[in-house]
Amino acid sequence: MNILDIIAKKRDKQELSKEEIDFFVKEYTNNNITDYQAAALVMAIYINGMNDVEITNLTTAMAYSGDVLDLSSLGEVVDKHSTGGVGDKITLILMPIIASLGIPVAKMSGRGLGFTGGTVDKLESIPGYTTNIPVDKFIQNVKEMGISLIGQTLNLAPADKKLYALRDTISCTESIPLIASSIMSKKIAAGANKIVIDVTCGSGAFMKNMEDAKKLADVMTRIGKLAGKETICVITDMNEPVGHAVGNTLEVIEAIDVLKGKIMPKDVENIITELGANMLILAGKAKNFDEGKAKILENISNGKAYNKFVELIQKQGGDISYIENTEKFEKAKYIIPIKASKSGKIVSLDAYTVGKMSVYLGAGRIKKEDKIDASVGFVFEKKVGDTVLKDEILGYIHSNDKEKGENVLSQELYIIQE
Ligand code: URA
Repeated sequence: MNILDIIAKKRDKQELSKEEIDFFVKEYTNNNITDYQAAALVMAIYINGMNDVEITNLTTAMAYSGDVLDLSSLGEVVDKHSTGGVGDKITLILMPIIASLGIPVAKMSGRGLGFTGGTVDKLESIPGYTTNIPVDKFIQNVKEMGISLIGQTLNLAPADKKLYALRDTISCTESIPLIASSIMSKKIAAGANKIVIDVTCGSGAFMKNMEDAKKLADVMTRIGKLAGKETICVITDMNEPVGHAVGNTLEVIEAIDVLKGKIMPKDVENIITELGANMLILAGKAKNFDEGKAKILENISNGKAYNKFVELIQKQGGDISYIENTEKFEKAKYIIPIKASKSGKIVSLDAYTVGKMSVYLGAGRIKKEDKIDASVGFVFEKKVGDTVLKDEILGYIHSNDKEKGENVLSQELYIIQE
């Protein structure tokens, strides 16, 4: 078999066989295929697409290109994944709820890159919390308390890592077969039996419109089934940031406030109940959506989800006095109010712009090696649909650099219609 024939086949719109896809993934991972040959094949896939069988074969080949986590000793694990967004602290809220309902949560999360945040960075803003623990300890923690949230300590789907980085350099990120196989390969390598995926849709997401989001959701559902992993995709809005906070510590504080039952932003409630109810249905713990939703909300109001979160943080070395009293978290030096430029109704708070501005403030990374500043970001008190008066405070910019804070303030983050 040789790579030139495989490239030519896809260039000529033919279907690739399982053997050809396996050959490509194995040899590219082992550096026996050059980046320019891989780039040619990726571009041919981007232009000519792949059918479900090809996407499933690509997914499986990438999933098994490195370590595959064996979670079979934990029973049925239902994983949750988001295709990324701004202010997305849903994992921090939902996973303790799920664990408190008796479903094992063994989750390896990623770091943020570009304008989207990552759960590992958020967890690491809790003093002492360690996301880097050996796999046997990770599994033991799940056995003992039903939950562990860590970073990617194993070499999961290295083929995807290489291909994803390559796609980024050749304008081939926005391809549904490539995104679907990238996400699903990591989920399969992470060991889940069943998967619920939050397919975000809007300016702050990969999928900018509903048509593409639906296509991606359909493909992932089908290839999950073909790969023997029952998958449910839920499409959620990412035109404005999720909840009120954007930034690592600020999002952790918001998640804690939700788990304590102090606040419940409407969009957060919709997302945790949609995803959570589907996870409970997949795990056989709810008969239908309404029952699942009620169970999710009940374990917030009875404190069980919060207690599970505290247990998790304590077990992984975090200082729970910060959870009990979130005032202890270090604040940014400058907390600058954003005031309404006129009276009227808020019609936009663009997630993409907010995401970019939060990276500028230091909350995210442009390159993988960049350091992040945990305390900076935004708290948006007002959201789309709210009516406001001129000069009313809409939210706050949290910055450790006065000039950067002022530059962000000069951006028109909120669009108000009179
Ligand atoms: N998230 C991934 O993991 N891969 C993609 O290709 C896009 C989003």
